[in-house]
Amino acid sequence: MTIRTANDVTGAVLAVMAQTPDPRLREIMDSLIRHLHGFVREVRLTEPEFREATALLNRMGQLTTDTHNEFVLMAGSLGVSALVCLQNNTDAETDTTSQNLLGPFWRMHSPRVENGGSLLRSPTPGDAMFVGIRVVDGQGRPVPGAEVDIWHCTPQGLYENQDETQADFNLRGKFTTDGDGRIAFSSVKPAGYPIPMDTVVGRMLAAQNRHPYRPAHIHALVFKDGYKTLITQIYADDDPRLETDVQFGVTETLIGRFQRHEGAHPDHPGDAGPWYSLDHTLVMTPGQAVLPRPPIK
Ligand code: BEZ
Ligand code: FE
Repeated sequence: MTIRTANDVTGAVLAVMAQTPDPRLREIMDSLIRHLHGFVREVRLTEPEFREATALLNRMGQLTTDTHNEFVLMAGSLGVSALVCLQNNTDAETDTTSQNLLGPFWRMHSPRVENGGSLLRSPTPGDAMFVGIRVVDGQGRPVPGAEVDIWHCTPQGLYENQDETQADFNLRGKFTTDGDGRIAFSSVKPAGYPIPMDTVVGRMLAAQNRHPYRPAHIHALVFKDGYKTLITQIYADDDPRLETDVQFGVTETLIGRFQRHEGAHPDHPGDAGPWYSLDHTLVMTPGQAVLPRPPIK
């Protein structure tokens, strides 16, 4: 088809998309073109803005390395990651899901820890935290024998791979749920942390007067044959940024009730306190047990 005016372009491109043999790819490309062209028309995108947009995408590619994924940060900062997670996992009856964002800090091969053990592998100052997690199925029945990977950052907001002062795999561990679907561990209470700001995403956040913080959270990845791998986070209910998470990750179901206790914990009489306890239930659904590709080694 010969293009004469702007009005002809979308139809010409859609006609080409319609030749895509794979039906799902055809559906995606057709919708993408209609929305993309609709967006260009709606905002009347100018030529300098278009050149700036392509330069920003180039920069995002250049910033992406084995340990920094600018596109994942951007998808999260635009709410796309949360939307994809929730629309693919929300249970129709309860209108909830325990699934959440993987984030960039999961490592494979975390060391095994016995139920009730500690995640500290090097001295890590902070308020002690005692966590119990129960894994159940959609009917509330315990899921025993599931592998549960746990990882979180320090009270300074740093994962061990970002911080030379921490031992390898500090604040990471792999547990197995007992007959009642439970794991338990002790650690130090994590803090919220900022995503990197010297980035394209950072420029966008600054231009929108947004803070770059994620609220404090504990990550979990639960794996058992016959169940969809559960990738999740439990958020601290006392974090002031719960409602303004830069990644739009916080859901009601995943706000953990961190109970604060004054004074020393009976097992740690040397600590002044306070200390925290947390009990949370996670729900697995039937599906495929597959591991994601680790974002870092
Ligand atoms: C995280 O929870 O570790 C995370 C998730 C998305 C973007 C950045 C960090
Ligand atoms: Fe995190």
